[in-house]
Amino acid sequence: MNIKGKNAIVTGGGRGLGKAVALILAKEGVNVGITGRNVENLKSTVEELKSLGVNAAYAAFDVAIEAEVQKGIADLAKELDGVDILINNAGIGNFGSIEEMPSKTWEEIMQINLFGVYYAAKAVYPFLKEKGAGDIVNVASTAGLKGGPNMSAYAASKAAVVSLSQSMMAEWRKENIRVITLTPSTIASDMSIDGGLTDGNPETVLQPEDFAEWVRDILKMNRRALIANASIFSTNP
Ligand SMILES: NC(=O)c1ccc[n+]([C@@H]2O[C@H](COP(=O)([O-])OP(=O)(O)OC[C@H]3O[C@@H](n4cnc5c(N)ncnc54)[C@H](OP(=O)(O)O)[C@@H]3O)[C@@H](O)[C@H]2O)c1
Repeated sequence: MNIKGKNAIVTGGGRGLGKAVALILAKEGVNVGITGRNVENLKSTVEELKSLGVNAAYAAFDVAIEAEVQKGIADLAKELDGVDILINNAGIGNFGSIEEMPSKTWEEIMQINLFGVYYAAKAVYPFLKEKGAGDIVNVASTAGLKGGPNMSAYAASKAAVVSLSQSMMAEWRKENIRVITLTPSTIASDMSIDGGLTDGNPETVLQPEDFAEWVRDILKMNRRALIANASIFSTNP
């Protein structure tokens, strides 16, 4: 399917996986609104997107605060003139044992990774409904499929995203909205390298570009086809 001329919002689009997705969509001729908290990253990414010949804008807000999400999404929808695609990508990785991680940190991870995804999808939904079609890509993680040591908060937040996303899919597919739940394994980014999960070696470890190509290809499938759940792994890291 040709996605040229569509409008996408990518949360966490100023760096990492979100930025790679924003750039690859722009190369397909998709207009892109990006969100995040770091205004410098957002501004420079918007310049890169515009240099690819598409309309691009940013909104700076914290995905953990519903009123900010609603305003930021509405501003971007206005600027782009509607929304067709949401890449629900913003998230944090914070790792530590159950007894050592402060409860406040645990709560913050849930608030950003779970509530952020919920708030953004809820804010975008009326715009997709207005168009009579749309796509929502919720970025969970393989950590959401199975818990493990030192990742109780992250894994629980991503397991909740998987479940939330599956419920969204069941509710909204009848309105021609494809809700796609992605569970990627480790990909080289600030989160995975700073978190000590990988050295990010481009010879062996998934790169943000691999993730972006995957998302692009899923979005380009004929509208009758919905990839409901999918994982991606490095072949032999
Ligand atoms: N990298 C991996 O190995 C991997 C694997 C599976 C799933 N994932 C998931 O993929 C997504 C992107 O991860 P990444 O690797 O690209 O991480 P990253 O490089 O650390 O980037 C995180 C992004 O999320 C944004 N963000 C974080 N907290 C936010 C908040 N409270 N409000 C608004 N924006 C916020 C950041 O924007 P600002 O810096 O502007 O705040 C940034 O753009 C996450 O949901 C992550 O859990 C990653």
